[in-house]
This record gives sequence, C-alpha cells and structure tokens, in this order.
Amino acid sequence: MSSKKVYIYKAFERFWHWMQAILIFFLAFSGFEIHGIYSFFGYRDAVRYHNIAAYLFIGLIVFAIFWHLTTGEYKQYIPSFKNIKAQLDYYIFGIFRNAPHPTKKTVLSKLNPLQKLTYFGLKILVIPLSVSSGLLYMFYRYPTRLGIEAINIQTLEFIAVFHTIAAILLVLFLVTHLYLITTGDSVTSNLNAMLTGYEELDDGKYEEHAVASSKISIQNVE
Ligand code: HEM
Repeated sequence: MSSKKVYIYKAFERFWHWMQAILIFFLAFSGFEIHGIYSFFGYRDAVRYHNIAAYLFIGLIVFAIFWHLTTGEYKQYIPSFKNIKAQLDYYIFGIFRNAPHPTKKTVLSKLNPLQKLTYFGLKILVIPLSVSSGLLYMFYRYPTRLGIEAINIQTLEFIAVFHTIAAILLVLFLVTHLYLITTGDSVTSNLNAMLTGYEELDDGKYEEHAVASSKISIQNVE
C-alpha cells in the first residue's frame, strides 16, 4: 500500500508537546531533589526553580486548554473502549511478531484507543492532581480575603503524599511514552512527526479527512 506525508501535528501542538515534556521532566528532576532523593541544585534553588517551572507549566496549560477548545482538537482525547483489547494485544504480543498496527492513524483520529484513555486520564486526573496539590503545597498558609484560616490546612503530609503520587505517575508515563515513541512504523517515525508535523499515513485513510479539513497539507511519498 502506498502512503502519503500528511501534516498531522500543527505548530502550536508541537510547541505545547515539547514544552510540556521539558517542564514535566524538569519539575520531576527538581521535585525529587526536594523530596530528598539526591542533591544537584541544592534544596533552596531546587525549590526556587521548581516554583518557576510550575508557573510556566500552569501558563502552558491555560494556553493548551484554550487551543484545544477553540480548534476542537480536544475531541481527539475523548476515550472509547473500542479496540482497546486489540491495541493491548498488539503491545504485549503483536509488536514482537511484526504484526501490523491494529488501528490506523488519521488526521482526525491521531491517537490509538490506549493513548486516548491514557492521555484522558492524565488530563483529567493526574495533571490536575499534580497542579492542585502543588498549589496547595505553595500556598497552604496564604492569607485570603476570608482570613488565613480559610485554607489553613493543619498538615502538609497529605498534600505531599498526593503530590508525590502524581509525580511518580507522571514519571512512569514519561518512561512508557519514551518506549512507545519507538514503536511507530519505524523507530523514529513518531519522533519525526512530532518534530516536523508531518507523518506518513496509509493511502485511502487520509483522503476522507483531507476533504473534511481543507488545511491539511499532503505530500506524495515514493
Ligand atoms: C503546577 C504544578 C506544580 C506546582 C505548583 C508544584 C509545587 C510544588 C511545591 C510548592 C513543592 C514543595 C517545595 C517545598 O518543599 O518547599 C513541590 C514538591 C515536589 N514536586 Fe511539585 N509542583 C508542581 C508540579 C510538579 C510535577 C509535574 C512534578 C513531577 C513530575 C512535581 C514533583 C514534585 C516532587 C517529587 C516534590 C517533592 C514532594 C515531597 O517530597 O513532598 N511537581 N512541588
């Protein structure tokens, strides 16, 4: 089957993806120093850098929410349980036998069912948990209009535990994600797509969507 190069990841999407990767990596690196696992920046600087990265991360999230809502791209992340088993079978068995990918990537459906479920979980559970526990960690005694007691939590322990659980889940996700990046049509095809925006998609699959989105740019691949 022939294939075409299709513009699948737009500029903001790639910017958001790489900024998010850098910030989460940096937040994890400085965070686990704060946790006491190693010493690199020194505790005080680790906290300072962690706070700066956290504000940048929140800013990025605000822009990303705006972009996803205004472009309708949020629909990519609505999970479906269809083909979940086929996708799991592929990652556990098929991939080691050179079996074909069970689901085809298209411009309007870039994520396989397992990705949809995982990213949805990250977006509505893990990242909100990380950000909200992080903000409570920062401001748990911050005076409010209602007086300091309004959010005067007696102990940081719970917050620290939730923040650390979210951090561990994010690191586990990063490690799995790095491995899965290599499981595209070639070892580097997914990485190239997120760098350049273009990915080779099977003929026929992209066409129906090319009609749907006049902005999709397609190049022939020999
Ligand atoms: C907007 C997001 C975030 C905010 C506001 C935030 C804020 C904070 C704050 C205030 C602390 C405590 C610093 C201190 O002891 O003075 C902390 C610790 C920590 N953060 Fe974050 N953080 C955020 C995101 C993240 C992310 C994404 C990760 C990891 C991927 C992470 C990992 C950690 C870890 C491991 C600790 C040490 C926890 C402990 O030992 O209690 N943070 N964070």
